[in-house]
Amino acid sequence: MENIREQLSRLVGEALNKASGIADCDPNVITASRPEFGDYQVDGVMAAAGRCGRKPRELAEAAIAGMSDEDSLVASVEVAGPGFINIRLNDQALMARGNEVLRDPQSLIPADSRVQKIVVDQSSPNLAKEMHVGHLRGTVIGDCLSRVLERLGHEVIRQNHVGDWGTQFGMLIAYMRELDREFNKSASLLQTELEDLETFYRAAKDKFDSDPAFADRARLSVVRLQGGDPEYLEAWQSFIDESLRHCQEIYRRLDVGLTLADLDAESRYNDDLEGIIRELDEKGLLQESDGARCVFLPEFKGKDGEPLPVIVQKSDGGYLYSTTDLAAVKMRSFDFEADRSLYVVDARQSLHFRQVFAVAQAADMASANISLEHIAYGTIMGSDGRPYKTRSGDSVKLADLLDEAVARALELVSEKNPDLAEDERRLIAENIGIASVKYADLSKNRMSDYVFDWSTMLSFEGNTAPYLLYACTRIKSLLRKRPQESPTEELTSLEHAEERALLLKILQLPEVVSLVARECYPNLLCNYLFELAGVFMRFYEACPVLKAEPQTRDSRLALALLAEQALEQGLDLLGIQTLERM
Ligand code: ARG
Repeated sequence: MENIREQLSRLVGEALNKASGIADCDPNVITASRPEFGDYQVDGVMAAAGRCGRKPRELAEAAIAGMSDEDSLVASVEVAGPGFINIRLNDQALMARGNEVLRDPQSLIPADSRVQKIVVDQSSPNLAKEMHVGHLRGTVIGDCLSRVLERLGHEVIRQNHVGDWGTQFGMLIAYMRELDREFNKSASLLQTELEDLETFYRAAKDKFDSDPAFADRARLSVVRLQGGDPEYLEAWQSFIDESLRHCQEIYRRLDVGLTLADLDAESRYNDDLEGIIRELDEKGLLQESDGARCVFLPEFKGKDGEPLPVIVQKSDGGYLYSTTDLAAVKMRSFDFEADRSLYVVDARQSLHFRQVFAVAQAADMASANISLEHIAYGTIMGSDGRPYKTRSGDSVKLADLLDEAVARALELVSEKNPDLAEDERRLIAENIGIASVKYADLSKNRMSDYVFDWSTMLSFEGNTAPYLLYACTRIKSLLRKRPQESPTEELTSLEHAEERALLLKILQLPEVVSLVARECYPNLLCNYLFELAGVFMRFYEACPVLKAEPQTRDSRLALALLAEQALEQGLDLLGIQTLERM
């Protein structure tokens, strides 16, 4: 089923094409900017009129006269102002759509007509350290976009492009071997040491900085590792496995869909890198600069206008982050044959991606039709206006952050609902705590930095997870009170303006979901859900449900059921599950 906006765009677009004699008019249908204008408005007439040299109002009239409306979706249209068309929808058509969703809830968000293969590069931490607050955004935004695209029927290939290669790992292996020797090889000891990867990393780094002999051993370890020495490879692998276990635990808690099958570790490309350099050379793109091998592209210039290199091989022969990403672009283009490749990565890497995409295109390492998109996000800040850190200035471990969220949520739940059994309170708190952290992130425009603030994200007021989850529990509790004798759910009337407003809002969910799929801004979905909850509350205040006449009552119950469906399906796309009570 087309969503309302699509259907209107088609109807008006065809009529506009016919009236103007231009084949590809963009009707530009949007939801009405003010309720008194109707439900939707057409903003594209003026542009079309400009193209065919007619008066906009006249063209608008002609388009309206020639519009076919097979489902009688439209109740009334009028030309307004310089050439806008205001559209009011037919109540019967709205109810028919609503009833269709009641019969088949999945039809609320129908699949896209054109199915694509879409890579979503997400989370992608560096495995040398433990996941910290900086990985939250790439993990939850990436998961949300994957869910949205999957829901629209696309084939999504999640890729967790973890950093698992490079000099840091030499240092860590050298340090592991050191502990082995010192403590006479006890696997379990190593295990406990690794339990806190952060401390382990810091200890290794301290030793590296203070002990030149150790630093030499560390450098040698890198050479051994990269040379494929089995002993070093084994030590590396056990470190990586342990680090991945930490990540998987975080993913499980966050309820994001990443598994080990989605790994796209940097080391996967080790054998391809030499070939990447060769290919760049064959294409005549390679230049040497201070012993390093670089690609210079005219569009990249430094501050003083001097050409800016993309370094792909260091003078010691080592490869770089960009080299690996070029190999990854190739795989996504030609092995996966993806239509889109989304990189959900910190905005501070935007130059990196612009360069990688440009080099890949110049060297034909990207297929002609793949769309490479850096889905950038800003930084999570502390209240001091600097990147969020612990009081002592360390990065905040994601595991600790989630623990604190749940602890705070438990306090909240215990306050609000002291009579619930302890187990249930804990379960609810786990849900609310994690949901609050995720929602606080997803509801911000991803391009902006935002200040991490416990009290707003855990508030029951405003655009927050607790507010939305609470709104859901209210609807669910209403639905539990449905009288036994109620017949099957069906909308039969829209007496009150608030009923109509709620139904229209519910039916607009698929429009928002399509927009999120296209532009990759999860906050649009959050805003929509927040508004939807508000529209529901207004309906609930204005329209008695259980006390109404049976027929009105049942129609309103059906509407409440639809609202619950929309909230639940929308929250699910954010990776948030609703609760029965809280
Ligand atoms: N591991 C990188 C980092 O921690 C992020 C990788 C993002 N994905 C990519 N294909 N480069 O900064």
